[in-house]
Amino acid sequence: MKRIAVLTSGGDAPGMNAAIRAVVRTGLYRGWEVFGVRQGYAGLIVGEMTPLTARDVGGILQQGGTILGSARSPDFEREVGREKALGHLIERRIDALLVIGGDGSQTGAHKLSQMGFPVVGVASTIDNDLVGTDISIGVDTALNIALEAIDRLKTTASSHQRAFLVEVMGRQCGYLALMAGLAGGAEAVVIPEVETDPNELAADLRAAYERGKLHALVVVAEGAKYNAAAMAAHFQEHRDTLGFELRVTTLGHVQRGGAPGAFDRTLATRLGAGATEALDRGEHGVLVGFIKGEVTMTPLAEVVGKQKPLDLRLLKLIRVLAK
Ligand code: ADP
Ligand code: F6P
Repeated sequence: MKRIAVLTSGGDAPGMNAAIRAVVRTGLYRGWEVFGVRQGYAGLIVGEMTPLTARDVGGILQQGGTILGSARSPDFEREVGREKALGHLIERRIDALLVIGGDGSQTGAHKLSQMGFPVVGVASTIDNDLVGTDISIGVDTALNIALEAIDRLKTTASSHQRAFLVEVMGRQCGYLALMAGLAGGAEAVVIPEVETDPNELAADLRAAYERGKLHALVVVAEGAKYNAAAMAAHFQEHRDTLGFELRVTTLGHVQRGGAPGAFDRTLATRLGAGATEALDRGEHGVLVGFIKGEVTMTPLAEVVGKQKPLDLRLLKLIRVLAK
């Protein structure tokens, strides 16, 4: 009999519940006992875990957030915190831990695995900054939420001939901004990976105004040097350079909330199931991700501390299409 524990960590993402359900039910199917750890690594450090039955994960597939709760735990970043967590796992005779989370969470998972404990990561973050997967749980839903907001903003922007700066999340990664800009028909996209000169952006907006455009939309990543607030502050000084009147909308946590879409439900279900399959094969110290349409395992050592490259050719395509 195997005893496994599962936790969700870092920023929550739509689809985490679908992944928990898949882990619990495929684990039970294999005859294992499955324990749920509350509040990510913070709960692990104090040994907060309870058994999960098939009924405990009923009706959660379509729910946003995470029934286990999530947290950022600075204590787990210190060896003493990780030792405490390991102590609880051993005391409760847990054979393996599944970590559903993003970049930071998988760094923690790797450190625990380096201490000799079997860990399997499941790629989940709206930021899509995790190496070892083409796309993480939550990204598609977050993008669709951003797009709905962009579509709505465009109608009011057109009525008033305004330019909007729409700030999306993503930490230091510009993926959400780039894709929201591409799918939302943005005039321009500002991302951390490429420095944007605000004067050049102003010239582009002015040119769009002079071409007779009714609105202009710029998607700005929160991690960019000129995020929405900084860009707006810059334009405040040069208001007449734009042509358009300017407004700013910061989408914030609305992007992480609510029900996962079909893509995230299926992705989360496949990755959760992939994680117990990996354990069944005796594989651990890996991240379960989705590469080229397949569920894949990548050693955590190859995942952590890496920067995921963006397809920067899309920036040019966005400019071409904005004509
Ligand atoms: P995400 O997993 O969404 O990227 P964070 O970066 O906040 O979210 O990381 C979540 C948690 O993972 C942190 O609160 C911490 O407990 C753990 N973690 C992050 N970085 C490290 C690290 N370098 N060493 C150990 N644990 C870490
Ligand atoms: O990592 C997910 C994320 O939503 C980032 O995009 C954002 O920068 C951060 O979490 C916000 O963190 P918090 O929920 O702690 O405010």
